Amino acid sequence: MSKKYYIETLGCAMNVRDSEHMIAELSLKEGYEAAESLEEADLILINTCSVREKPVHKLFSEIGQFSKRKKAGAKIGVCGCTASHLGEEIIKRAPSVDFVLGARNVSKITEVLHRPKAVEVDIDYDESSYAFGEFRTSLYKAFINISIGCDKQCSFCIVPHTRGEEISIPAELILQEAQKAARTGAKEIFLLGQNVNNYGRRFSGEHPKMDFTDLLKAVSEIEEVERIRFTSPHPLHMDDAFLEEFAKNPKICKSMHMPLQSGSTRILKAMKRGYSKEWFLDRAFRLREMVPDVSISTDIIVGFPGERDEDFEDTMDVIEQVRFEQIFSFKYSPRPMTPAREYEGQVPDEVGSKRLKRVQERHNEMLDEMKEERLGRLYEVYFEELKPGGMVAGRTGNNWLVHARGSEELLGRTARVKIVETSRLGSVGEIVA
Ligand code: SAH
Ligand code: F3S
Repeated sequence: MSKKYYIETLGCAMNVRDSEHMIAELSLKEGYEAAESLEEADLILINTCSVREKPVHKLFSEIGQFSKRKKAGAKIGVCGCTASHLGEEIIKRAPSVDFVLGARNVSKITEVLHRPKAVEVDIDYDESSYAFGEFRTSLYKAFINISIGCDKQCSFCIVPHTRGEEISIPAELILQEAQKAARTGAKEIFLLGQNVNNYGRRFSGEHPKMDFTDLLKAVSEIEEVERIRFTSPHPLHMDDAFLEEFAKNPKICKSMHMPLQSGSTRILKAMKRGYSKEWFLDRAFRLREMVPDVSISTDIIVGFPGERDEDFEDTMDVIEQVRFEQIFSFKYSPRPMTPAREYEGQVPDEVGSKRLKRVQERHNEMLDEMKEERLGRLYEVYFEELKPGGMVAGRTGNNWLVHARGSEELLGRTARVKIVETSRLGSVGEIVA
């Protein structure tokens, strides 16, 4: 009987891809298959996130529960950003953990598996040209890494300390992966990196010059690729050439993530984001001018050290002006190894909570207005998932979730849909011939 793995993936899309890489390695080299439940697994992996403090706290109680539920002899591995950050301390605090494998070390999974109490957390380890095996969570969508690590030093962010310096993955590898995925049914390619539009600044070996705009063009030239998405671009690097390619390339989905963090130029400076409120608005307006139906999503941190009421009002002002489709909003969480945790003017928790609530409430009101605007309109929807009750779900180019009546034959296909019902969470459409 083959061995079974159970994996829990927390955090961002890059973690999702790292989990896919580990699964590919485990099945290719060790013959592992997915377990139906944790109790049945021979290997339990927790792929962690360390961007905020709360999930890190939860990790240890989770390890405790998992070790009670697991079958005798099953191994537990802690992977990802918290593994990089805490290293061997994890095994000291939770002796039931068998190994610790940091982000950027996932190619070593089949090796640490056989080394008791192994700790591999080198953030300089270069996996940029490692030929991972193939595994995709979705048959119809392929996540592809285009870089590892991050070279920005945003003063609140732990990621550069857990994923290391930024290295771009050679374009030949990315294109090969995209081609293979599209030929085997994943018509949508999702390019991933902490800062995708910084692509091509540094490769680990000799490599012809290529930037993100060139890469987008090259991926779109693969005939079988129908849709291209990417995350996350950095507002600072949204130059005109990039926005023009985004606007005119029909294969690029018209949804853009623009992580604002704060609308106050003073706070943006303290965050070391490298742009001002005016630059952000200029880029967002330019984008809307070029692509009127674009949907823009963002990340916002409230309660950053030194954030006064008037700084927060600047954030609310950008929210009013840009009308984001989606806002991922967070209360500032002080992280180890980051300069912001030492800054003066730490904002009391209640103030942060109040501001967070205001962002979320105002955004919900705006969403209610936006959803009305969608009613009756026609969109191209790429269907990816079967839903109960004879329904299928997919997304419009600008990333709205749409359900429609239909079955398997719609999966992996794009159909024209008229929106007949909308809610904050998604829409219902009717397929029109
Ligand atoms: N480069 C990635 C950032 C990864 S972290 C990107 O642009 O998406 C994802 C988000 O978590 C950040 O954009 C930020 O909004 C939030 N975040 C990061 N560090 C944080 C902290 N210390 N406290 C609260 N939120 C934080
Ligand atoms: Fe973090 Fe800023 Fe990089 S948010 S991941 S340091 S772009």
